[in-house]
Amino acid sequence: MAGHDDDENKQALDGDDESLLEAQSHLWNLTFGFINSMSLKCAIQLGIPDVIHKHGQPITLSQLITSLNLPISKTDWLRRLLRLLVHSGLLAKTIINNNSSNYDNDDDYYLYHLTPTSSILVKEKPNNVSPFVLTMLDSALVSPWHVLSDAFKCNGVEPAFNVAHATGLWETSEELNKDFNEAMASDAKFLMDIVVSNWGDDVFGGLKSIVDVGGGSGAAAFIIAKRFPQIKCTVLDLPRVVASMSKSEMVEFVQGDMFEFIPPAHAVLLKV
Ligand SMILES: C[S@@+](CC[C@H](N)C(=O)[O-])C[C@H]1O[C@@H](n2cnc3c(N)ncnc32)[C@H](O)[C@@H]1O
Repeated sequence: MAGHDDDENKQALDGDDESLLEAQSHLWNLTFGFINSMSLKCAIQLGIPDVIHKHGQPITLSQLITSLNLPISKTDWLRRLLRLLVHSGLLAKTIINNNSSNYDNDDDYYLYHLTPTSSILVKEKPNNVSPFVLTMLDSALVSPWHVLSDAFKCNGVEPAFNVAHATGLWETSEELNKDFNEAMASDAKFLMDIVVSNWGDDVFGGLKSIVDVGGGSGAAAFIIAKRFPQIKCTVLDLPRVVASMSKSEMVEFVQGDMFEFIPPAHAVLLKV
């Protein structure tokens, strides 16, 4: 209350009530955890990392609204989204005008920066993993989580994806199959570039052949084949995945079921 010291104001919380409030706050964090994922998805779809990257320097809210071609009426929305993104570590913000007294108006008060996390979501960068994030957060892949308890109750081994879609992940629509392959390729490229440049000689140096089992569109195999042309690289994947691949001199694609046959090679690569 006005005029009272903080200490005078403070009423000790009953120990039980304090734990109850902590429990509620923990529960709220768990309940609304999806907001982090969905605001990440929204940021990629709007192109926020791309626009900040293209801008070449940290950006204000008003510059961001303009560069994203969003209606000016959405300024408040964007301000709130940016707060979430800063909170989750996807963006960072710094104060540009220390003398400003207008704390409520972020428009010219803060500069928004990319963080190491959002830097790998810039579409024009070779290590861009946006396709992976967008596909993993696609409603087709999120909806199985909504029916996880139903999947538990089914008397069988049917995955939650099948319960949600009445078909398996590997038999699903062409569109999701294509997106999924692109998603995994972006992840494989990101990771294998680092693996090959740091530990490539140790891991792959002495090999004459390698088969990437469930290797999708061959992103990992192409990176290995480029760095180690002496290694015969083979990718085994399901017929529908291999059918969409064009023939290559660097990597041989073999269609089949890994549970029935794996092409012989000195080493097997299994990456999920
Ligand atoms: C999670 S993805 C991993 C793709 C790739 N290894 C990567 O990490 O980027 C799994 C892959 O296994 C393939 N796959 C699933 N079942 C398979 C099977 N029975 N035999 C061969 N490949 C299979 C899928 O088509 C898909 O490309």
